[in-house]
Amino acid sequence: MEENLLHIKNDAVSLVMDADNLAELNQIYIDFLGRSGKLTKELKNLKDVPQEKRPEVGKLANEIKTAIETIISDKKKLLKQGKRVERAEKLDITKPGIKPKKGSQHLVTQAIKEISQVFESIGFNRVRHPEVEWDWYAFESLNFPEDHPARDDWETFFIDEKPSEKYGPMILTPHTSSGQVREMLEQVKDKKNPSIRMLNLAKCYRRQSDVSHTEMFHQFEGLVIDEGINIGHLKGVLEYFVKSYFGKARTSRIRPYQFQFTEPSFEIDISCGICNGKGCKLCKEGWLELGGAGMVHPNVLKAGKIDPEKYTGFAFGWGVERVLMMKEGLNLPDLRLIYSNRIEFLKQF
Ligand code: FA5
Repeated sequence: MEENLLHIKNDAVSLVMDADNLAELNQIYIDFLGRSGKLTKELKNLKDVPQEKRPEVGKLANEIKTAIETIISDKKKLLKQGKRVERAEKLDITKPGIKPKKGSQHLVTQAIKEISQVFESIGFNRVRHPEVEWDWYAFESLNFPEDHPARDDWETFFIDEKPSEKYGPMILTPHTSSGQVREMLEQVKDKKNPSIRMLNLAKCYRRQSDVSHTEMFHQFEGLVIDEGINIGHLKGVLEYFVKSYFGKARTSRIRPYQFQFTEPSFEIDISCGICNGKGCKLCKEGWLELGGAGMVHPNVLKAGKIDPEKYTGFAFGWGVERVLMMKEGLNLPDLRLIYSNRIEFLKQF
């Protein structure tokens, strides 16, 4: 707030110096000190200044108000006497300058960079597949039955567009897994031996909005396909990510789960950073849920024109926002805060 006040003062002084009639000066008074003037508006933010700093900032605001009033009334007197005021006389070039405000990257952007670096350092290629997607890539090619609840419009956003005969309805992709078959088809196009190490990090959309869900969120999807890929490789990559991103003290575990497009499927947990796996208020039993993973289902390999007799692979898909909250040890009351544009919240990161 201090910087804003100083900017306001400088703007007012500069305008007063340039003004050459009384009407202009009256207008400057209204623009800065009037009921909706710049200084009056800024003073409304005083309530957001921490209690201990308030008297100091309040004092500065009063001084600036008096300074603007004084310079306007001095200039009026001079104009009435018909005197010119030279700008240079009032410019004190020895005064310290005003630092321009510095911004920072949004915390999700920072997390995306960090996550990408971890995977790129072990040979994953960062790719992005379409956010506006066909049902076929998001569901059909991933072995989802026609009546799966995720395909209903209570979870998926449908685009008001004529469905494609080949690919079905157009949707906003609800998960980055829709990039799996796209990536396979792209890789087999000009290669005989598909060797895939994909990191698809992109926006996803679901009709979900509550304290732990946002309608737009980010997922990062890993897909590795080659000859001889097994669950050991999945565990190795997982443990490498957990240790690099969350710190050496953290560890992971896999639990059986069910996804249409992986077999076997797992849910991945990481040890809680607050209690180190002992159990606390944040985690309950010492573990926090990270996301899904599994070995690529043979039907999905077939949809991507890859021979499931010869090739195997693993995939995982986790939420950037959730991973970020776990790293920061933040027990956010509402995940939607991340996208609320509240500067006071975002400035902490
Ligand atoms: C999936 O989306 C699977 N595609 C993951 C997967 C990939 C499994 C590859 C197997 C192999 P799920 O619906 O559980 O799974 O979402 C994965 C993660 O995305 C969740 O754990 C959560 O971190 C994040 N997520 C899902 N929905 C939201 C939402 N509305 N807001 C914020 N994060 C979300």
